[in-house]
Amino acid sequence: MRTLSIVGARPQFIKLAPVTRALASAGVQDVIVHTGQHYDAGMSDVFFDELGIPQPDLNLSVGSGSHGAQTARMLELIEAAIEEQKPDWVIIYGDTNSTVAGALAAAKLHVPIAHVEAGLRSFNRAMPEEINRIVADHVSDLLLAPTETAMQNLGTENLAARSVLTGDVMLDAVRYNSAVAEQRSTILDDLGVDDRSYAVLTLHRASNTEAETLGPLMRTLNTIAEEQIPIVFPMHPRTAAAMRADETFTASERLQIVEPVGFLDMLALVGHARFALTDSGGLQKEAYFLGCPCVTLREETEWLETVNGGGNVLVGPDPERIVTAVNDWLDVDAATVRDRIRDSVASFGDGHAAEAIVAAIQARS
Ligand code: UD1
Repeated sequence: MRTLSIVGARPQFIKLAPVTRALASAGVQDVIVHTGQHYDAGMSDVFFDELGIPQPDLNLSVGSGSHGAQTARMLELIEAAIEEQKPDWVIIYGDTNSTVAGALAAAKLHVPIAHVEAGLRSFNRAMPEEINRIVADHVSDLLLAPTETAMQNLGTENLAARSVLTGDVMLDAVRYNSAVAEQRSTILDDLGVDDRSYAVLTLHRASNTEAETLGPLMRTLNTIAEEQIPIVFPMHPRTAAAMRADETFTASERLQIVEPVGFLDMLALVGHARFALTDSGGLQKEAYFLGCPCVTLREETEWLETVNGGGNVLVGPDPERIVTAVNDWLDVDAATVRDRIRDSVASFGDGHAAEAIVAAIQARS
């Protein structure tokens, strides 16, 4: 059997790593197509190197653009790649523009599609990712759901017959790499921060990087860094571009803005942080799996289990709610949160979702 994996953005490389490894162990040849959506070395190459992912067989180098232009370029090039490679299955990951382009190209060529991380819904159609998820799920043939909540969402949309609960490949990735991160990462020393003495921040969602939201949000976070706890902020290029436009903002010395970091450094940063502040879906879970409390700078989450399990609070971009959540986490002992979370991590599977994904694909081949 021959599969073709389509990836393009940072979180997809993390999901690809365990899946392509499990495919290789099962004797399946996986052709890797990188759309080039993320192209900076720190957003792409570092993940392939650290996670031991084979170099992509094809790089489509689409680069940045509006949603329509970026997706259109991918669609045309992915179609040609599928026609040339003739895979038995196309595997798509998550909810980016690379996911939806891969889904549409494969569906029109009648190649069966397996969607890893199917069934996630924020129920907020203003998010480009939500549109990508809905389209990808409805044209895919095999929906590989990470959680029961995702299975229920698929059932509600009459997709239950194509759905399989596999567990979450992000848990596979965190379990596999967190010991490696402990040994290899020097990021805490490099940044001069100590265990539990700082918070870690990521921010890049389209809704939060619009000027009228980003300005007040950054000022709130700056004040928290100044008055409550130092913050380490690996800044996404989208956010960096938006911040450069705001000439009136000056970061406090206690808000350490650094370039995007690789997966191992991120695991080390999250694993030792007092808490995380983020609008990323992936980071909410990485924090949860590592027992790190989280403040989510969004109004909704696709990962309800992290909230129900007592490790995550949703506050949106609202300054007062952010400060309250920060105070709450500063009042709780880290070990107490870790104990609270431990039991419910099982709702994300057993850390072997990749093997379940390969078995589900093989069973339908
Ligand atoms: C994308 C995904 C999002 C995912 C995120 C992870 C979509 C709709 N969104 O958002 O789901 O959580 O990746 O990071 O697919 N840029 C660079 N260098 C890069 C990549 C991007 O400078 O290597 C800049 C470009 O100016 C680009 C902007 O970042 O215009 C946004 O990149 P884009 O790929 O459109 O979306 P992300 O915000 O990264």
